[in-house]
Amino acid sequence: MCGIVAYIGPKEAYPIIIKGLQRLEYRGYDSAGVAILNGTFNLYKRKGKVSDLVDFINAKKTNGTSGIGHTRWATHGKPDDTNAHPHTSGDDNLVLVHNGIIENYAVLKRALENEGHVFKSETDTEVLVHLIQEIQTRENLPLEDAVRISLTKVIGAYAIVVMDKRDPEKLVGARKQSPLVIGIGEDEFFMASDATPIVEHTKQVVYLNDGEIAVVNRNGEMEIKTIESNKIQRPYVHQLELQIEQLEKGGYDYFMMKEIHEQPKTIGDAMRGRINADEGWIRLGGVDEYSAKMSKASRFIIAGCGTSWHAGLIGEYLLEDLARMPVEVEYASELRYRNPIINEDDVVVALSQSGETADTLAAIELAQKRNALVYGIVNVVGSSIARITDAGSYIHAGPEIGVASTKAFTGQVTLLTMMALSLAHKRGTISESYYHRLLVELENIPGKLAKVLEKAKQIEYIAREIKDANNALYLGRGYNFPVALEGALKLKEISYIHAEGYPAAEMKHGPIALIDENMPVIVICTNKSAYDKIASNVQEVKARKGMVIAIVAEGDEEISKMADYSIEIPDTEEPLTPLLSVVPLQLLSYYIAVMRGCNVDQPRNLAKSVTVE
Ligand code: F6R
Repeated sequence: MCGIVAYIGPKEAYPIIIKGLQRLEYRGYDSAGVAILNGTFNLYKRKGKVSDLVDFINAKKTNGTSGIGHTRWATHGKPDDTNAHPHTSGDDNLVLVHNGIIENYAVLKRALENEGHVFKSETDTEVLVHLIQEIQTRENLPLEDAVRISLTKVIGAYAIVVMDKRDPEKLVGARKQSPLVIGIGEDEFFMASDATPIVEHTKQVVYLNDGEIAVVNRNGEMEIKTIESNKIQRPYVHQLELQIEQLEKGGYDYFMMKEIHEQPKTIGDAMRGRINADEGWIRLGGVDEYSAKMSKASRFIIAGCGTSWHAGLIGEYLLEDLARMPVEVEYASELRYRNPIINEDDVVVALSQSGETADTLAAIELAQKRNALVYGIVNVVGSSIARITDAGSYIHAGPEIGVASTKAFTGQVTLLTMMALSLAHKRGTISESYYHRLLVELENIPGKLAKVLEKAKQIEYIAREIKDANNALYLGRGYNFPVALEGALKLKEISYIHAEGYPAAEMKHGPIALIDENMPVIVICTNKSAYDKIASNVQEVKARKGMVIAIVAEGDEEISKMADYSIEIPDTEEPLTPLLSVVPLQLLSYYIAVMRGCNVDQPRNLAKSVTVE
């Protein structure tokens, strides 16, 4: 989704803003722009990549020590130079960048047109900057007051930064349901959609809350007020733990490959200090604190979107199987608009890598209104979901820059596994010996995952064989059914090959009609409990000349003989299988996408954090 960067201070703003926009590229966008203030605004906007904007600007005038930049992911109006941000007021005194959606923009636009305003773009954002101009001029207000009053008239979600060329010493930023972070440097300030453009300049940040407006100035002063004009006395200053190397590719061609290879470490980090197999304990913040409530919950509702929803499905298998807890897994976007039955003795688990997904945030708010305990499993530290949930745990995977989620997924599954094991132990639903076996095996997963990664060359070879397919089918049973869904999603989103994930037994109820010699069928066959049944499914595919790529446990003979290709992964306890079996599928999609010439880290139309519904 859109990315915002702004700077005010003693340094040249343009290089800081361009570098910041490059840091935000991972969020997904289709155009970019900057406005640098130097008496007047030097404003440049371009459809395409930040590099296209830089080429376009080339030697044009960019000097100035304050400015704003934006990467736009189109919602209202096509991606083109005119619709790109920043947008200016009708009198050219104000510039504004925006992430979010102004839902009542059409009504506001009509009213402004009646006042004589003329619009250049098709965007909701331009309406907002004209509204601020109208109110500022009519009531002769300082910028921050005009922004505040304008925002009371707006319905929708926003993070904005505004500048006024007649008042060049300040930046004004505001947020509602879209993130905005303020970086505090030495007599300088940064504003950005997340901390990635800020971290190389300062580690001190303030996360703006919903309904807050911040004014920062060149004298190093910052004031934050609510939209009702109440001053926030001492805004909480966070210390960023993010390291700059985490934002670099570190020798890999793409972030996605780096992140796939980081998984032995990130799974280890997710467990660090939280599990000790020798001593037989799991300590998960929040789960311990609310253990009485969680152990007695009438049910768990897991909510998320996309890959996080797939992790949630694995959570369902884990909590049911180990903790004997009833579980429902919901797409957050559906949950929020149904009239769901959620009670105060339910526990809602919200899963999100970014912690900013608009639908997941809305589902949390709904659950909180119904007095359920909401537990967040989130990657981005300080994100909105991390801050509004009642309790929760970070997955500690570090920044995930590739749009296709990989290490966040295995991090989420690791936390759900620990949560299920902890509750199972407290509720006495598994034997001590099985509990200990699972703890020991969980600690072994990073080492086993490193062995899976050694299969990369073989997987690259298989990728070459199937890279020209138009369709692919992914099959799995039990714990591996959500893995099949996740494998199919990975392929779709980065290689643009149509793919479907199915429970293997469901194949006979429809998808089998699609199978012929052109259809690669990826079957995840590591389940011990349903091995014979999966073997039959593989036979059914082979009987129809489908090409089978099987993910099997080390030493497998039966299915490996039937399959065209088989990828062996280390054996493990069945509930832990997804942590290993998903990785060959991540690698397969990666290689296919690279071979098809796709931009793996920034697939078309996709955004990393979906901050609009
Ligand atoms: C797929 C992917 C998306 C996200 C989804 C939810 O690879 O990344 O499907 O999983 O947009 O995002 P978060 O987890 O940030 O809430």
